[in-house]
Amino acid sequence: MACKRGALIVLEGVDKAGKTTQCKKLVQTLQQSGRAAEMMRFPDRTTTIGQLISAYLEKKSDLEDHTVHLLFSANRWELVPLMKKKLEQGTTLVVDRYAFSGAAFTSAKPGFCLDWCMQPDVGLPKPDLVMFLQLNPAEAALRGQFGEERYENRTFQRTVQQRFEELMKDSSVNWQVIDASQSVEEVHRNITNHSLNAINVAQNQPLGELWK
Ligand code: TMP
Ligand code: MG
Repeated sequence: MACKRGALIVLEGVDKAGKTTQCKKLVQTLQQSGRAAEMMRFPDRTTTIGQLISAYLEKKSDLEDHTVHLLFSANRWELVPLMKKKLEQGTTLVVDRYAFSGAAFTSAKPGFCLDWCMQPDVGLPKPDLVMFLQLNPAEAALRGQFGEERYENRTFQRTVQQRFEELMKDSSVNWQVIDASQSVEEVHRNITNHSLNAINVAQNQPLGELWK
């Protein structure tokens, strides 16, 4: 019998919501329960394209806005063959940011509409579950200052949040909003429950295509 496929699980949210911490904990819990699981993150700064993006985010280089948007998308597409292979082998992928960050961040810039920003990512492997870690700006502020990277400021993040809210209206994507103001362990329990459910459903379904 062919092995059952893994699930594609994505965590999204504004900065300071705890995405990275929760991705790591989820992978650990899944592995401890005997399930194959691996973490990925976008941008993946290790590839040649990822290094261009990283220099841009660190403000070591400037890139034209459309250009960097397409690089973020290309950085996902270049990893699609690997993602598909792992999913087919039965490994669940837990992904820290995906095409939703791509569309939300660029469309928060003046002169960009959400629809244009979504186009380059149409047809990517469709996540079986996207969890949005919801945290209000006041709560996020309590978690410390933003860093030095591009986009790490309050006004911009507020617009990004609004773009995410637009994206969450799309019922073709399995969105789950998670209250990220709870304790790390409580958030983890929520995320684990949604993920186990998604893994069960996904194993009997073909992988979909995003926004298609
Ligand atoms: P990180 O802090 O999770 O490494 O993400 C780096 C920044 O890149 C973050 O501010 C969100 C932004 N971003 C985009 O603008 N477009 C994208 O496609 C992705 C994945 C992230
Ligand atoms: Mg960051």
